[in-house]
Amino acid sequence: MLTMKDVVREGDPVLRKIAEEVQLPASDEDRQTLQAMLDFVINSQDPELAEKFELRPGVGIAAPQIGISKRMFAVHVTDEQDQLYSLGIFNPKIVSHSVEETHLEGGEGCLSVDRDIPGNVPRYSRITVKGTTLEGEEVTLRLRGLVSIVFQHELDHLNGIMFYDRIEAFKDKLKKELPQ
Ligand code: NI
Repeated sequence: MLTMKDVVREGDPVLRKIAEEVQLPASDEDRQTLQAMLDFVINSQDPELAEKFELRPGVGIAAPQIGISKRMFAVHVTDEQDQLYSLGIFNPKIVSHSVEETHLEGGEGCLSVDRDIPGNVPRYSRITVKGTTLEGEEVTLRLRGLVSIVFQHELDHLNGIMFYDRIEAFKDKLKKELPQ
């Protein structure tokens, strides 16, 4: 079972690497890792388990965040229409996106960042993502709102991008402060 001890924090070079494509069909090891990541996110939202195992609640986690530089992430998040998106995805790719942008009110947070960094993180309002699920199914997902933002945040992790890199007002300041 994954806990916060397995989560690497900002400053670790793995968070700045471009992650590698997962060989498909996924190996048992890759599937088990992704399942464990999904379980971690689900557990983190269960108040009892979160307290017992000292998990910080999160809605998604990408493999580089547990030190594995591979293109896969897990999300467990409910959209504005109460639809739950609970899945692990291999080799996700944005195939199209809206011109319109949006951002999360109150900014974004990250399991790998142990501090509050305020500021709007610009994201596409709508994206279409292709990838392969944990179950081996090729999917095309049309996403909007919160779920779309969460996917873009996790996808960024696969490309070595942290959410605060996208905060215009803080970009230059943070670049100087943070280990790259
Ligand atoms: Ni993150």
